Amino acid sequence: GQIKYLEDLFTVPASKLKEITDHFVKELAKGLSVEGGSIPMNVTWVMGYPTGEEQGTFIALDMGGTNLRVCEIVLPEEKGEFEIIQSKYRMPEELKTGKSEELWEYIADCVQQFIDYHHEDGKLGTVPMGFTFSYPCTQDYVDHGVLQRWTKGFDISGVEGEDVVPLFEAALKKRGLPIHLTALINDTTGTLIASNYTDQSTRIGAIFGTGCNAAYMENVGSCPKIAHLNLPPETPIAINCEYGAFDNEHIVLPLTKYDKIIDADSPRPGQQAFEKMISGLYLGEIFRLVLLDLHQGNACTIFEGQSMTKLSKPYSLDASFLSLIEEDPFENLSETHDLLKQQLGLDAKKPELELVRRLAELIGTRAARLSACGIAAIAKKKDLQAPCHVGADGSVFNKYPHFKARGAQALRDIFDWPASTIQQRGKEDPIDIRAAEDGSGVGAALIAALTIKRVKEGN
Ligand code: BG6
Ligand code: GLC
Repeated sequence: GQIKYLEDLFTVPASKLKEITDHFVKELAKGLSVEGGSIPMNVTWVMGYPTGEEQGTFIALDMGGTNLRVCEIVLPEEKGEFEIIQSKYRMPEELKTGKSEELWEYIADCVQQFIDYHHEDGKLGTVPMGFTFSYPCTQDYVDHGVLQRWTKGFDISGVEGEDVVPLFEAALKKRGLPIHLTALINDTTGTLIASNYTDQSTRIGAIFGTGCNAAYMENVGSCPKIAHLNLPPETPIAINCEYGAFDNEHIVLPLTKYDKIIDADSPRPGQQAFEKMISGLYLGEIFRLVLLDLHQGNACTIFEGQSMTKLSKPYSLDASFLSLIEEDPFENLSETHDLLKQQLGLDAKKPELELVRRLAELIGTRAARLSACGIAAIAKKKDLQAPCHVGADGSVFNKYPHFKARGAQALRDIFDWPASTIQQRGKEDPIDIRAAEDGSGVGAALIAALTIKRVKEGN
């Protein structure tokens, strides 16, 4: 009955993963071409990996989807342990759909609080800042970035189409803060650089969190869209793919009617098609829409006669709700029962509990399997050889149950690696996704250091 219906809808077989990956490879190349395409493939002006000689004191500001974090990082004289102090601030919900000025004023206030707290003596000289602003930006140089569009549910007017650097710098300046915004970076680029600093087999930096995206090191010769700059073709350059926008044309992704509703009701319909099927912001919403639909269905309904009021508010469930269901260790799903009762006022019977659990598994598994296609596509495009490590961060990667194992299985389905290859490699898969080094802290500091070095050398 209903479980079979859901399984048919949400299961992505190996053949489909392969088809998606092949299309993905072409779309990555298209994004680097002059014509572009739906994947932005943003040039970051991070030209190569760190050498280990980077040093100094840096401020890193991380404006993600959920938290705002300010860090002070000291990169040691010799490659080794970095020192880091940090404070986290809430990112108020109202700000995400508020006014541009309020956003910059708020984050500058957080930086000020941080400096006042950690440097009461006022002795901090001018420090370079790496600002992790994880939204798609067009960059003509590393301390510049025109916001292409908001993603992850943000909708602040007056920022799209603007260079965010002077907007934020004005707020810093007003407070007389001794900070020089040296580099504007994406969380994926920071993750790539920080993870490569500690593990040189890292070839991709990926985020599986509120949004999903990855960055990797390209060479200039493979980026026709910057050919006019006449840089040597072998020059390395990090690309922030912004592949949450993969398949905005809906050519290959197995969209369900629920995915279509999410898109239509989002602040930016037609955008971030891939991200809307797999990232943390949307998992709870997909789940909610399915439950409401099954309740209203006329064939065989669930929660018959019960009030669904608590489920009627868009985005009222987040991915952690699904995590809790997937983690319920009890055969009779008693934790799931209590969760549904407490949070949604629903009294679920055994078959309903089983359906709810299966639905969470299906949504979580689909997310992990589709996520793997983006990583596989980069690896195929660049012909990355084992050992190829992917530094990964984000709430879904770090907290969602079984996400890592499901993603790894999907990569095996896509590549059909012979068992012997894996055994020879001591059971590590040729492409191995692992927890990243702090990209928006250490990565931002490293990128600021690399930028200063490049400026000094006059490149
Ligand atoms: C954090 C990084 O750990 O993960 C951020 O410091 C990044 O830079 C974030 O944006 C992504 O995860 P989430 O779940 O907060 O979107
Ligand atoms: C969204 C953003 C992208 C970011 C990702 C992960 O896709 O557009 O810049 O890297 O989320 O946070």
